[in-house]
Amino acid sequence: MRIVEGPKGYRSAVPCVCRESRRLNSRLSKAAIPKHYKHSTLDSFESMYPEASPTLFRARQAAQKIVESYPFANQGIGLLLCGKVGIGKTHLAVGVLLGLIEKGADGYFCEYVDLLRRIQQSYGDESPINESSLLAPLFKMEVLVLDELGSTKPTAWVYDTLALILNKRYNDRKITIITTNYPNLPPAKSEFEEQAPEQVDRFQDQLKEEAKEVMRVKTLGDRIGERMWSRLQEMCYPVELQGDDFRQKVKRASLD
Ligand SMILES: Nc1ncnc2c1ncn2[C@@H]1O[C@H](COP(=O)(O)OP(=O)(O)O)[C@@H](O)[C@H]1O
Ligand SMILES: [Mg+2]
Repeated sequence: MRIVEGPKGYRSAVPCVCRESRRLNSRLSKAAIPKHYKHSTLDSFESMYPEASPTLFRARQAAQKIVESYPFANQGIGLLLCGKVGIGKTHLAVGVLLGLIEKGADGYFCEYVDLLRRIQQSYGDESPINESSLLAPLFKMEVLVLDELGSTKPTAWVYDTLALILNKRYNDRKITIITTNYPNLPPAKSEFEEQAPEQVDRFQDQLKEEAKEVMRVKTLGDRIGERMWSRLQEMCYPVELQGDDFRQKVKRASLD
């Protein structure tokens, strides 16, 4: 607090500006943004020319809209950023997170595979951390970035864990920003069909089917299951990022 003198000479205490900057720093440190992306703001995301890279331009505009509409016009709608590695998905997702944190929201960055690994480790008898303390920020933070969704092999446990997180956030209308390398399409076969595959008469046909399945490009639906895929369509505005790999074109590592 700071003491100020009013026009009639009365003195009163008002919140000092340092308080907001301390709160901002505390929100930033709780967000657990990886060091590499600490400065990945929307302003530093290059997509200025719609003609050169229309999808990046659209993606940046959608990201900007989420930040601008917070807190009043946003009903908990987030983003689903799809595209190949290096296109800028994580940068853009962190850009939204930083923008919202600056506007007063609390947020959390979480890498999907790392999260699942930490939850599994927490089941060990010796583990000092329990599952609920790991899940708490994912439930409670107003904004969550879930990076590289679908990048782990789907199992019933993975489906259930993801459902727990997404359903809770959906019910509480909290903003979730997702990045994924998989195309935003439903599963080729539904979960139910996979559980009860059609009877394939001949062995040859079965082999052919399996070969086709291996060759097929996997979709986000294949990786997270039909139910969570449809839930995501309700929770997030989908944007497909296309173009050149920024890392290879512009940010090639150098020792000079
Ligand atoms: N349009 C862009 N403008 C500025 N930097 C970018 C852009 N796209 C990618 N980058 C940078 O390139 C690197 C790779 O981007 P990243 O967001 O990690 O890609 P992805 O998550 O799609 O694999 C990061 O250092 C990121 O900051
Ligand atoms: Mg990424």
